Amino acid sequence: MHNLQSLMRPHMVKIATYHGVDPSEELARKAGIRPEDVIRLNANENPYGALDKVSAALVGQPLHLYPDPKQQKLRTALSEYVGQPVDRIIAGAGGDEIIDLLMRLFVEPDQTVLDCEPTFGMYSFAARLADAKIISVPRTNTWDIDIPAMTAAIDGLTRIIFLASPNNPTGNLLKESDARALLDTGVVLCVDETYYEFSGNTLAHLLDDYENLVILRSFSKWAGIAGLRVGYAIGSATLISHLMDIKQPYNINIAGEAAVLAALEHRSELLTRTRSLVEQRKKLEAVINDLDGVSYFPSEGNFLLCKFEHKTAEQAFTGLAEHGIFVRQFPQTVLNDSLRISAGTPEQTDQLIYALKNIV
Ligand SMILES: Cc1ncc(COP(=O)(O)O)c(C=O)c1O
Repeated sequence: MHNLQSLMRPHMVKIATYHGVDPSEELARKAGIRPEDVIRLNANENPYGALDKVSAALVGQPLHLYPDPKQQKLRTALSEYVGQPVDRIIAGAGGDEIIDLLMRLFVEPDQTVLDCEPTFGMYSFAARLADAKIISVPRTNTWDIDIPAMTAAIDGLTRIIFLASPNNPTGNLLKESDARALLDTGVVLCVDETYYEFSGNTLAHLLDDYENLVILRSFSKWAGIAGLRVGYAIGSATLISHLMDIKQPYNINIAGEAAVLAALEHRSELLTRTRSLVEQRKKLEAVINDLDGVSYFPSEGNFLLCKFEHKTAEQAFTGLAEHGIFVRQFPQTVLNDSLRISAGTPEQTDQLIYALKNIV
């Protein structure tokens, strides 16, 4: 075993891995409840599941054939959806793959990647995989970007900055003026709009002004197909053509392609669900406004970052799990007093509210 490891790339051997969410069976086993009683509010998934019309579109697909490496149908449909030319769009196996591809394209070992804590953990994980140095510049007390600190952190080794808008887990948007200030430095800026359909806010209009801007989007959350792994990037034609050159040829599988085409066709139904999730988040906000011992930070996503005062976040987490409700916790970080709670269906929200009232 030792010999085998000595043959591996040293930075990979002891890498701090990224822990994804457990399957419901596992959550149920740990909490001593039945899998069907698990309420998953820990991964910002879409609790309504896929549309029936999207699931139906998977039937009869030619599963024995390789998918189109040029993603022509998919990119054409995405082009119509986002209002950008086809050559400015690439699809990836989730936004996660796009993040990885950007690292491969831009970052050499020992060069620098910037993000702003607290934020989505995939940026730093992908940087570690690339053997790059990750500098995580803390956000301000309103979770905004500290532009002077960012500017000070940027130097000749900085290759790419990742900023989510809305940010996961804080829920706030990236200000256009902050994005412009960073783009003006000439470094590549990836604005991760995975929660765009919930916020309705985009910086895609800046693409005409900045070749160093990439917008990242996903079908995991609003479209309810996280399990099929489809995301996409919008960027300059030059950037996208290089990403197309380095991606795995068949990165989007036949099922994912069919599902996205159907989701875009039936987008108005999906957007109704999206709006309902925003309503559920607002209902939770209203209840928390009247509760002692818990507060939240305003969110534009399908999740709410909740801070606990009398109970520890760990106690609140355990209390919710006893009610079958699983949320996201952030031990050993600046958010160790907080939990991120995804918006659920109206029934799930009622159960969550009942449990929260009991706990605090
Ligand atoms: C900010 C952000 N970006 C990207 C992703 C990855 O999404 P995908 O499922 O498309 O890989 C997530 C998922 O939680 C996220 O929160």
